[in-house]
Amino acid sequence: MRNNLILVGFMGTGKTTVGAALSEELGMIHRDLDEGIVERAGCTIPQLFEQKGEAFFRDMEAAVLADLLKQHGLVLTTGGGAVLRAENVQRMLEGGLVVALSATEEELVRRLERDQNRPLLAGGVAQRVKALLEQRKDSYTFAPVQIDTTGKEVAEIVA
Ligand code: S3P
Repeated sequence: MRNNLILVGFMGTGKTTVGAALSEELGMIHRDLDEGIVERAGCTIPQLFEQKGEAFFRDMEAAVLADLLKQHGLVLTTGGGAVLRAENVQRMLEGGLVVALSATEEELVRRLERDQNRPLLAGGVAQRVKALLEQRKDSYTFAPVQIDTTGKEVAEIVA
């Protein structure tokens, strides 16, 4: 088994922020799956969804994840939908320790309303978060470590 730390969780659970702080704390390299996709695609995630569609994005997400997980010693942060494909989940479980971050619906809406960079939330953050949380409620339970970030500071989550 590879010794990566892999952060999963719904949008707005703080994966990227916590991952950056965690990698610094542990002296590990931080890589972000969405950033890898943006680099490979040469455009932003909203542009990718708009121009090529979600299925194309998901294929690229799976390919970049597979490439990143060939490495060791990473803190790897992922997009909220990276767990939707069974092959990705299998790769993550083989690639290191998977840690799922969560937060209450109210907290997620509060955090996500500040950010307009998520195509899946277009058309109303509160309604979209509610619907997607319902669809994905079991998607993150496979992770052996579960951390509720609601009301917590980054340092506390990292600890
Ligand atoms: C997505 C989450 C996003 C990004 C894309 C799709 C999802 O990442 O990968 O917009 O399906 O939940 P974050 O979880 O970092 O927002």
